[in-house]
Amino acid sequence: MDSNRRPENMARITTKELAEKFIDEQIGLIRKQVGDKKVLLALSGGVDSSVVAALLIKAIGKQLICVHVNHGLMRKGESEQVIEVFKGNLEENLIYIDGTDRFLDKLTDVAEPETKRKIIGGEFIRVFEEEARKLTDVDFLAQGTIYPDIIESKGVKAHHNVGGLPDDLKFELVEPVKLLYKDEVRVVGSALGLPDAMVYRQPFPGPGLGVRCTGAITRDRLEALRESDAILREEFEKAGLADKIWQFFTVVPDFRSTGVRDGKRVFDWPVIIRAVNTVDAMSAEVPEIDWNILKKITDRILAEVPGVCRVLYDLSPKAPATIEWE
Ligand code: XMP
Repeated sequence: MDSNRRPENMARITTKELAEKFIDEQIGLIRKQVGDKKVLLALSGGVDSSVVAALLIKAIGKQLICVHVNHGLMRKGESEQVIEVFKGNLEENLIYIDGTDRFLDKLTDVAEPETKRKIIGGEFIRVFEEEARKLTDVDFLAQGTIYPDIIESKGVKAHHNVGGLPDDLKFELVEPVKLLYKDEVRVVGSALGLPDAMVYRQPFPGPGLGVRCTGAITRDRLEALRESDAILREEFEKAGLADKIWQFFTVVPDFRSTGVRDGKRVFDWPVIIRAVNTVDAMSAEVPEIDWNILKKITDRILAEVPGVCRVLYDLSPKAPATIEWE
């Protein structure tokens, strides 16, 4: 039987009880596969790798070693959340790498979107590889591969990029959620006790804020992006929109416009608000947001984020616009 094929009679995991049954089964299978050996996992903080981490902690405890690479393109508070959620169980087995300078240095003056993506993905593999080489007694690599990854990209978790490790660094794979759909992974995550903010997180591209700080990334625009994104999230949450809108974020493009501040002309960045509803991300609609909410977000961004003099709401559906700006 093809182990990458979901059996036709496999019940959809929709309830806590079904999730608990799945968790018990997986704990048995993981223990059987791994024995007393060590397992390495690249823990991005996304839903899939977080659920795999929680599952492996339950199954094998400190035989799990997680590496969290902060590429400097995370949203505000995201790396901190990974540490907060997993440090208690993993302690020294959670390796945190702050790669901010390394990634941003590599990206200096690189404006072409696909080149940026390649640099971020390539650097991610290199950082992870360096950490993996320091660990001499690890036999297994866990991955948060889910069923759509298998169907869509032939088993390569493209946005986690760990599929690209060099040949001399071969591990046996542990992929406990590879036959699950995203909604099932979330039900399992909740049953494992992960916080809602992690389990119901909206999709976040592997290259992170890098695709939203358009053109050549600069630290000042990246900071404006991170802060404006945090304000948008906070206000959407307060307004009860956070779980009604599929994906939302801000973008800081690489052009300036004129403004006036303290009676003087300035030449500052615009911030673009992007919010979309979709079923499968293949097409997307822009929701109508209450004017007062948009106004409050605009006022806060203009008052609190340095270097910004204008806020725009992107009304473009997909197609012809994509969800991301790059
Ligand atoms: P687009 O911009 O193509 O995005 O309409 C569709 C969905 O995919 C996400 N996205 C990415 N995810 N790596 C990822 O892991 C990427 O390079 C990437 N680009 C876009 C995007 O956030 C949206 O949910």
